[in-house]
Amino acid sequence: TTGHDDAAPRVVVVGSGAAGLTAALRAAAEGARVTVVTKSALADTATDRAQGGIAAMTRDLPGGQSQDTPELHVHDTLAAGAGCCDAEVVRGVVADSPEAITALTDAGVRFDRVAGPTSDWVQGLEGAHSVPRILHAGGDATGHAIQAALTARATEAASRGDITLLEYTVVTELRLSDGQITGLTVQPVDADGLLGEPRDLPANHVVLATGGVGQLYPFTTNPAVAAGDGIALALRAGAEVRGMEFVQFHPTALATPGSFLISEAVRGEGAVLRNHCGERFMLRVDPRGELAPRDVVARAIAAERSAEPGAGVFLDCTGIPVPDGEDRVGFLARRFPTIDAALREHGIEWSRELVPVSPAAHYLMGGVLTDASGRTNVPGLWAAGECAATGLHGANRLASNSLLEAVVSGERAGRLVAQGSSARSWPVENTMRSPLHDTEPTHVSQGMDGSPDIPFSRAALQATMWRGAGVVRAEAELAASQRLLEEWLAASSSTVATGAADARADSEAGAKDPGAAPRPHGSRPATLAEYEDHNLLTVGREVVRAARLRTESCGAHHRADAAETHAGTPHAAHASALEDH
Ligand code: SIN
Repeated sequence: TTGHDDAAPRVVVVGSGAAGLTAALRAAAEGARVTVVTKSALADTATDRAQGGIAAMTRDLPGGQSQDTPELHVHDTLAAGAGCCDAEVVRGVVADSPEAITALTDAGVRFDRVAGPTSDWVQGLEGAHSVPRILHAGGDATGHAIQAALTARATEAASRGDITLLEYTVVTELRLSDGQITGLTVQPVDADGLLGEPRDLPANHVVLATGGVGQLYPFTTNPAVAAGDGIALALRAGAEVRGMEFVQFHPTALATPGSFLISEAVRGEGAVLRNHCGERFMLRVDPRGELAPRDVVARAIAAERSAEPGAGVFLDCTGIPVPDGEDRVGFLARRFPTIDAALREHGIEWSRELVPVSPAAHYLMGGVLTDASGRTNVPGLWAAGECAATGLHGANRLASNSLLEAVVSGERAGRLVAQGSSARSWPVENTMRSPLHDTEPTHVSQGMDGSPDIPFSRAALQATMWRGAGVVRAEAELAASQRLLEEWLAASSSTVATGAADARADSEAGAKDPGAAPRPHGSRPATLAEYEDHNLLTVGREVVRAARLRTESCGAHHRADAAETHAGTPHAAHASALEDH
């Protein structure tokens, strides 16, 4: 029993990171009947891995810092976003940032404080921030602290019967009637990754909070679960996506298989980048040096690495200033315990040795198109956190704005779904159109005439995305990548029915040779990996299509073949377009 009255809205939240659990806890607190569905363990999320921290305006909070102003935070976010942010949305998120911090401290997150009588919060600096405004917890374990607190609150709520938690359960279909959400289909995932019997869950509202698409790339800071599931589900339900070309590559992942993140906060403390000759090359690339926006730093590192293949680029932490009375070994271990432990495991003594680094896929700025509260164009369907495109991040996310957005948008969506925000409040038609999505799908001139030339595998997909839609893009590689993805997707769609729209496409497609695509199992994928592969192909095609359509360079989307770099074409103010109805 849930203790809620039967008339309360039924809400299903998909995903259990900061956005999902915040939405679930808020909706439950406001009286909704809430179920959280997650395909892995509750705490197996991108939030749990976030290091740097959470950017917030704290001057009016006890322990806050007075140096910052809302205008400055808005300015930095817009500047990093390269002309593609929705300024209204940015102002709204920054305005709600003190409330987000309070929600987290109420949930039990203990942000690091300065030792001494004032006990103010410590605030760090990261790339493209004008002032130190980043709160952190456990040094570099901010996301872990947030995830642990929210997981504990959700588990308590579940033990009181206020929330139902379905771990190791994957959503394989959104159910609609008259274009409106009525529920979803879930399947349990066993220890071997096999999917069990489908089961329907009714829902008045579904909040997608499934994170990003890092598994599209061979090098990523994301967890293994980041397979674009929510975005693919939304696409199949008729939701719009936008900004899919804007994939942020973090400049400094450890250059080893597994791509462990070396937080930008390390550069914030004074670490510098050097090429194989020992040159501090960022100073000739950008006057902001190592703290230039991360797209600039990622491209500079990629250029150095390709200029001298095999030679490497290094993060030099040996000159980081150390507080009086502390040695560097002790300071690094105290300030960055997670990174310190990981580097030691790799045998790197970073207080005196250089750390080899490379860019890695880190964050998707685009996603399911929503208004500022997370409403998509499909009545009853919401998206929050990384899987959503609210307009906050534009073409390039400002460091540490993502945990902030996750909490702000989770709070907003949670509150509104609990109020039962009915289909009547949805626009009959979503009038916002990103210029890019007015365009018909790009015509594929070759292929589609049999089995793909290159057999499908997750590794082949990742290599294709890295080559075609990685840090630097160009038409020829993008077109080749799209051809391959279309072929793989056609083969996958003919064997994997995932939703009503796809079921129709299947019967039209007839019995195509499945090639090496994910194996059929009746009309549904047999394993989680097959289902994820299908979703990765679905979202990967969107990334490539959007990257082809945007022929300019803008923020994280860099075209080697663009005549010149523009500030991007701004997206329409879609939030107000939705709300005007
Ligand atoms: C980092 O710690 O460098 C990541 C922070 C972020 O991506 O916002």
